[in-house]
Amino acid sequence: MAVKFYKSENQVPLEMHKVRVVQKLNLLPVEKRLQAIQEAGNNTFLLQNKDIYMDMLTDSGVNAMSDEQTAAMFTADDSYAGSETFNRLRRAVKEVFGTEYLLPAHQGRACENILAEAFVKPGSVAIMNFHFTTTKAHITRCGGEVIEVVDSKGLKPQSDDPFKGNFNLNVLEETIRQYGPENVAFVRVEAGTNLIGGQPVSLENMLAVADVCHKYGVMSVLDASLLQDNVYFMKTREAQCKYMTTKQIYHLLADKMDIIYFSSRKLGFGRGGAITSHNESLMKSLMEFIPLYEGFLTYGGMDVRSIEAVAVGLYESLDMDYISQGPEFIQYLVKELDDYGVPVIKPAGGLGAHLNCSEILPELPHNQYPAAAVAAALYIAGGSRGMERGTVSEQREPDGTERYAELELLRLAMPRRVFTLSQVKYCADRVKWVWDNRDLIGGLQWTEEPKVLRFFFGRMKEIGHWQEDLTEKFRMDFGDSL
Ligand code: F0G
Repeated sequence: MAVKFYKSENQVPLEMHKVRVVQKLNLLPVEKRLQAIQEAGNNTFLLQNKDIYMDMLTDSGVNAMSDEQTAAMFTADDSYAGSETFNRLRRAVKEVFGTEYLLPAHQGRACENILAEAFVKPGSVAIMNFHFTTTKAHITRCGGEVIEVVDSKGLKPQSDDPFKGNFNLNVLEETIRQYGPENVAFVRVEAGTNLIGGQPVSLENMLAVADVCHKYGVMSVLDASLLQDNVYFMKTREAQCKYMTTKQIYHLLADKMDIIYFSSRKLGFGRGGAITSHNESLMKSLMEFIPLYEGFLTYGGMDVRSIEAVAVGLYESLDMDYISQGPEFIQYLVKELDDYGVPVIKPAGGLGAHLNCSEILPELPHNQYPAAAVAAALYIAGGSRGMERGTVSEQREPDGTERYAELELLRLAMPRRVFTLSQVKYCADRVKWVWDNRDLIGGLQWTEEPKVLRFFFGRMKEIGHWQEDLTEKFRMDFGDSL
């Protein structure tokens, strides 16, 4: 499928689209970058977009829209109820998943809120390959507990395993038996497992999970937010999927799973979210929450123009030319970094590249926040903004002690269809420079630490003077260059 080059050392991912709308970027001089990150309290969430060259914070709601998506936005039917726009979304979901019933919500976490309200009771458990932050927050808020049964290889930073998001099926069955099927709210399969590096789940494993759920009479839920990357990996890494169409894979999953939900900030290259299923009675039990929390049943808190864009974006999620771009760019970045010796999560997954900051700064203790320190260093080095996915993203224990993250990661997300390859090369180049200058990087300490979701709003400062030293070193190495 990938186009081979006649003379090129590495496989070069070739875009099957061209760019027709552009947005001007700024690249500040290094001294200004130092100032900006310090003013942002060393928290990349608090940087201003005008100060950022490559925004790799997330792949959510920042994907490029196609000409057809943009065109569709002009045809939106802006009626409170019974809108034609919603009918078009319903047709798109039917085409992609084959499912009859559809409930719209304003984004992925809103779907999670509704599923938790409907099915999670105090004392119940939700079993999943791995949690996502918002998923866990909703389940625990409703008195439930999250239990993770990802195969142990999923937590090994370096691995050749093609499907590190897979469930350990034995542990899944044991866990259901241990708690009793009646206490399991649902089993949730997260496609493209976000927090362990965008790692996929195989089709075989997903279907086996559905079978286990069926055996015990437990509900199965698929979080399809990252399914398009996951389907790309099924097609390219799993023998049985090679000759299946993407649509056959989506339909097979929808036939087996009781409920599917997704953030269409990712799946569908737009905004919003939705819950879909073949099961009428299950969907009826969720329906009443939509007008209560989201909006009427034919918009669910989404703007109609966004719904039009998502409807078209969902058809595009079936197109290998479109869905291969993200994973292939990520693969390119991961290979560039790995070849140079930079510790990076392998194999390359979807969503983005993940730097293993525990290995970049092995001497720096968790409570000086290595992943946040590398995030600040990379912004100083190249104006690229990543997201800390380490101890800062955890929450303290109730007694105030730090909960250390298993992996101190810096996520460099790859918004779909957004960057050019020269920009990816630039990012790799600046990461290599950070790696070569890692001895200069020191720790961070809190100046303002919110109790809840501290990674969003918290502020930190450098311990010592390392950021000024790094800036000076940049000038020495790069001269007048930005
Ligand atoms: N599920 C997964 C697997 C996600 O990655 C996300 C969001 C959600 C659910 C929630 O969806 O944002 O529309 O409410 N991930 C974003 C990220 C926020 O940056 O990784 P949402």
